[in-house]
Amino acid sequence: MAGTFITFEGIDGSGKSTQARLLAEALQDEGLDVVLTREPGGSPGAEEIRALVLEGDPDRWSAKTELLLFTAARRDHLERLIEPALAAGKVVICDRFADSTRIYQGSRSGDLRILVDNLHDLMIGREPDLTFIIDMDPDTGLARAKGRGGNEERFEDFGAGLQAQMRAGFLALAQEFSDRCVVVDGARPVKGVAVDVTRIAHAHLT
Ligand code: ADP
Ligand code: TYD
Repeated sequence: MAGTFITFEGIDGSGKSTQARLLAEALQDEGLDVVLTREPGGSPGAEEIRALVLEGDPDRWSAKTELLLFTAARRDHLERLIEPALAAGKVVICDRFADSTRIYQGSRSGDLRILVDNLHDLMIGREPDLTFIIDMDPDTGLARAKGRGGNEERFEDFGAGLQAQMRAGFLALAQEFSDRCVVVDGARPVKGVAVDVTRIAHAHLT
């Protein structure tokens, strides 16, 4: 029996991690076998790459080098965690996946989307069954993300202009992959968002 692969996407601070965790808890409570994971990271090797890409100067890497690093991390995560869990029939819930690369590396410095798509086809070749795009205005998202503190601020340091561009990118992506993407309004209390997310996931799982 094949498992189900669910991803959460959206700008920084939109509430992806919160909603991914709440959905994982809700499905676990119903007796489903759930693996909650995240990108960049999710396996020991990919977590090491995470520190390389998320810490330090905003111009530490070019967009193309970044694309290779995120793809290397994803390949490791896929081989070691995601594919074995899906093969065992589990529900895998992942906080960000390839759509983040399509938007962040694909559109941040010029148009690298074709390169992103080619590399994805070559090295990853897997799409989620269901993707939640948590939509949020960039100022609120950035304020929430900054409120968390920590060292992983390389992307947050790109500022509100980039966040606005990324938000538009995610909304366009939802139309491009309308068969698997659902846009959820994240500018509401946590519980209200979670009710929608759980309802949509249930409809997909049954
Ligand atoms: P993301 O994973 O998208 O960056 P998080 O889930 O980490 O977002 O949330 C960022 C911050 O905003 C956290 O401090 C979290 O507690 C808070 N937060 C998440 N969802 C909401 C919400 N619906 N309303 C208010 N604050 C929220
Ligand atoms: P994440 O830890 O999910 O940040 P947040 O919780 O603030 O949303 O991801 C960190 C950053 O990594 C985020 O700004 C987006 C970026 N990113 C990419 O640029 N490409 C990718 O493929 C992924 C997975 C993330």
